[in-house]
Amino acid sequence: MPASLAIRTDQPGARIEPTIYGHFAEHLGRCIYGGIWVGPDSDIPNVRGIRTDIVEALRAIQIPVLRWPGGCFADEYHWEDGVGPRDKRPVMLNTHWGGVTEYNSFGTHEFMDLCDQLGCEPYICGNVGSGTVREMQQWVEYLTFAGNSPMADLRRANGREEPWRIKYWGVGNENWGCGGSMRPEYYADEYRRYQTYLRNLSGNALFKIACGANREDYDWTEVLMQVAGSRMHGLSLHYYTAPGPSWREKRSATEFGPDEWFQTLSRTLFMEELLDTHGAIMDRYDPEKRVALIVDEWGTWYTVEPGTNPGFLYQQNTLRDALVAGINLNLFHAHADRVRMANIAQTVNVLQAMVLTEGKRMLLTPTYHVFHMYQQHMGARNLPVALSTPLYTMGSEQIGALHASASLAENGSVTVSICNLDHEHAIDLSVALAEDRFHCVKGKVLAADRLQAHNTFDEPETVVPQCFEGASLEGSSVQLRMPAASVVVLSLC
Ligand code: AHR
Repeated sequence: MPASLAIRTDQPGARIEPTIYGHFAEHLGRCIYGGIWVGPDSDIPNVRGIRTDIVEALRAIQIPVLRWPGGCFADEYHWEDGVGPRDKRPVMLNTHWGGVTEYNSFGTHEFMDLCDQLGCEPYICGNVGSGTVREMQQWVEYLTFAGNSPMADLRRANGREEPWRIKYWGVGNENWGCGGSMRPEYYADEYRRYQTYLRNLSGNALFKIACGANREDYDWTEVLMQVAGSRMHGLSLHYYTAPGPSWREKRSATEFGPDEWFQTLSRTLFMEELLDTHGAIMDRYDPEKRVALIVDEWGTWYTVEPGTNPGFLYQQNTLRDALVAGINLNLFHAHADRVRMANIAQTVNVLQAMVLTEGKRMLLTPTYHVFHMYQQHMGARNLPVALSTPLYTMGSEQIGALHASASLAENGSVTVSICNLDHEHAIDLSVALAEDRFHCVKGKVLAADRLQAHNTFDEPETVVPQCFEGASLEGSSVQLRMPAASVVVLSLC
């Protein structure tokens, strides 16, 4: 069956907030330590302890926002331990992630410096599970108050005169699980209490994000919206894609066949049902869509690389992860009227990372390349698409072989991103544009000679985008052949 994609280039919808392309960095394994932070005395090039190569790589994808310090770590983190002279900071145990000693070398000042170097918005997740209201209130005062106060004076004593500006503030993480094992009714009340004391100081305005549901826990969303919806700006959602028979029996990141390729992509598509259903619940309490759905953890979760600490969640990243990223980003665009931020987990060396490091060396993953290829969607307006696609069959299961999204930039150019999930069949695609004002089409493709292809420190360019010459434009129609197992991005101007 031939495939077709109709794009209403004349009917732009919601803005694709750049923050949909957000990231997440936790004190977990080698994400912060070794990945981002090497310390000012390291022989790895750094600026005030922060790796220069990482900053350059993330700037190249215009990282818009970075969530920190967790994750599960956030609900056992006490921010006061991470300020002041580094050699005097208290030490703690990172009980969630490998039981390692946390020296608190990377704290508030280092994180805010990282965000400055990256040119991105900070998104801080405060501690509800093992913290106090006072502690969270004081963190906001420390960061944002311009006048004289105990916390602002402490900040000055620690070397920062001016307050920072901080918008995104999470009130706990996964409080249904690692963040305190709370029931939604209990957390909703806790959220109300905590957020009361999160003050807007010295002209700073906080965007308060309540802890949201795990996957299809729709009751959590229902209760949160009912009890606390009017007191939040955002409600989060976490969903990870994990192939395998159960959550406990995960699978390898690199050793898989077509069955697991299919299962992974099929499970990724479940994100659509989650966005629709959580969104529909939110609509009942908030038809104006004032409260944003913030997918602040998403991505693939496999077994760790052989020989690495199971608590460090270090996994490789193949062409399959590129498809997972492409599909999720397409879905976030389509739900941009409600989804205003998303944060892939996690930036460096953890889960579906952008970047992997080994000592001085660094490589960019296939997932990174998708973020690079999709950049033109950031800040553009989502366009309605109607896709007619052949089915992709594995055993008794079927999913659409193609997955697509389109957006309109302010300068009038249109970006179309298409994923071919089918691992063995190329697909001819005919794209119909609602207007015939376009005069050029350019493209990039990410594909490889095998499904398991990935970048290594010795061969870091196995999976990299190539120019895509296979699209032709005539009037208001574009013809192209989508290679099997590929991501293609077209720019029409
Ligand atoms: O991203 C790894 C962990 O996954 C986070 O710490 C937690 O929030 C989630 O369960």
